[in-house]
Amino acid sequence: MNMDKLRVINAKTLNRDYKIFIKPGLRLELPEIIQDTLKLKGFEKIYLVTDNTVMSIYGETINKFLEKMPFSYRFFALKQGEEQKSIDNAKKIYEDMLDFNLHRNDIVIAFGGGVVGDIAGFVASTFHRGIRLMQIPTTLVAQVDSSIGGKTAVNINNVKNAVGTFYQPHLIVIDPLFLVTLPESEIINGMAEVIKYGAVFNKNILLCIKELAVSVKSGSVLKGVLSDTRFYEIIHKCCKLKAMVVKKDEYDTGCRNLLNFGHTFGHALEKETGLNLLNHGQAVAHGMLMAADASIISGIAKVSLKKIFTDIYSLLNMPEKLSLNIFNQSLNKAGKGMNKDLSTEAAVKKIIQSMEFDKKFSSKSNKFILLKEAGKPVFVYNLDKGILYDAIKNNISGEIK
Ligand code: NAD
Ligand code: GLY
Repeated sequence: MNMDKLRVINAKTLNRDYKIFIKPGLRLELPEIIQDTLKLKGFEKIYLVTDNTVMSIYGETINKFLEKMPFSYRFFALKQGEEQKSIDNAKKIYEDMLDFNLHRNDIVIAFGGGVVGDIAGFVASTFHRGIRLMQIPTTLVAQVDSSIGGKTAVNINNVKNAVGTFYQPHLIVIDPLFLVTLPESEIINGMAEVIKYGAVFNKNILLCIKELAVSVKSGSVLKGVLSDTRFYEIIHKCCKLKAMVVKKDEYDTGCRNLLNFGHTFGHALEKETGLNLLNHGQAVAHGMLMAADASIISGIAKVSLKKIFTDIYSLLNMPEKLSLNIFNQSLNKAGKGMNKDLSTEAAVKKIIQSMEFDKKFSSKSNKFILLKEAGKPVFVYNLDKGILYDAIKNNISGEIK
C-alpha cells in the first residue's frame, strides 16, 4: 500500500461522525483540510493548545499554519509533563478563552501528545458546554490511541484522569513525520500500545513490526522502525482498530475494555515504582508479559504465546524483565527504604496489593484481559492470586545490584 497517499478513516460514534486523516507531511495541508472538512458556519477563531517542548520543535510549523488561516488565533503552551494535566491549568485555559472571547462555533486545536489532547479535549467539552475540537497528535501514543475515541481528562491531586468526559473530536489529522523528533523513551511508550493492538486484535501487526525491526541495518532499531514508511501502515491499522472498538462501545462498558490489555499489571507497576522511574509504556510492556504468563499458567494459552512478545521486545531492544532494583531505587528515593532492599517476593506482594486498588477490582472480584493466543482475547474474572503471583514473579529479575 502506498502510504504517501492520504488515508481517511470515517469514525462513527453515537454523538458524532468524524474523519481521521493520515498522511506523512499532512501538516503542510492543515489550512485546506480544516476549511474543506469542517465547513464551519460562524467559525471565526482558533484556540490552539500545545506544550513548550512541542512549541520549541514545531513553533514555526504552528505559526505558519495559523498565519495562513483567515481567522484570528491564540495559543496556550503548557509546560511539558503529566502533572500539567491539572484542573488548575484547565481553569487557566478557560480564563484565557474567555479573555479571547471564544464562542461555541470556534475551534480548539490540541497540538501535541496525550497530555495536551486530554486537557484540551476536557476544556473543549466543557467550555460553553462544548466547543469544536480538532486533534493534531504528535506522539505515537496520541496518534494510535489517545486522540481517537473521545476520552478527555484532568488529574486531581495525583489521581490520574480523576475528572473527565467523553467528547468526540470533530476532526483528527495525523502526520507520522512528527514522530521523527520523539526521544526513544516516548517511542517505547507508543510502541507498547501498538504491540497491544497486535496482541489483542491483529497478529499481523506483530509480524509486521518484527519484519521492520529485522530490516533495520544500523542505528537505533526503534527509530529505524518508526521512520520506515511501512510503519505508517501500522499506524493506520491501529487507528482503524481503535475507531472500530469505539464505535462498538463508545462509553467503555464492554469491548473497549480490551484496550486495557496489560494495563492492570502496568498501572500497579507504575504506582509501585513511582517517581518517574518507569514510564507508562514501559510499565504496559512489562504488564503484557505478565498477562501473557497469566494466560499460560492458567491454561488458557500455550507456552509459545510468551515468545511472540519476547521476540519482538528483543528485536526492539525493549527490556523483558523488570529489574528489582527499580523498586528499591523508588523506595530509597522516597526515603522509605532505609537501605533495606525488597525481596522479589515482597515486590510481587506490593504489586498485587496495588492491583487491588485498581478500578477493575472490587472487594470480591477481579477482571483481567488474557489471551488464548495473539488476536484472541478473553475476559477472565477472579483470577487466582497464586497465578497472579507467579505471572508477576516470572517477569521480575531478582538480582539486587
Ligand atoms: P505527553 O503528551 O506527555 O508527550 C510525551 C512527551 O513528548 C512530552 O514531553 C511532549 O512534550 C513530547 N512530545 C510531543 N510530541 C513530540 C514530538 N513530535 N517530538 C518530540 N517530543 C514530543 O505523553 P503521551 O504519551 O503522548 O500521552 C500520555 C497521556 O495520554 C497521559 O496523560 C495518558 O493518561 C493520556 N492517554 C489518554 C488516552 C485517551 O484515550 N484519552 C489514551 C492513552 C493515554
Ligand atoms: N486508551 C483506552 C481507551 O481509549 O479506551
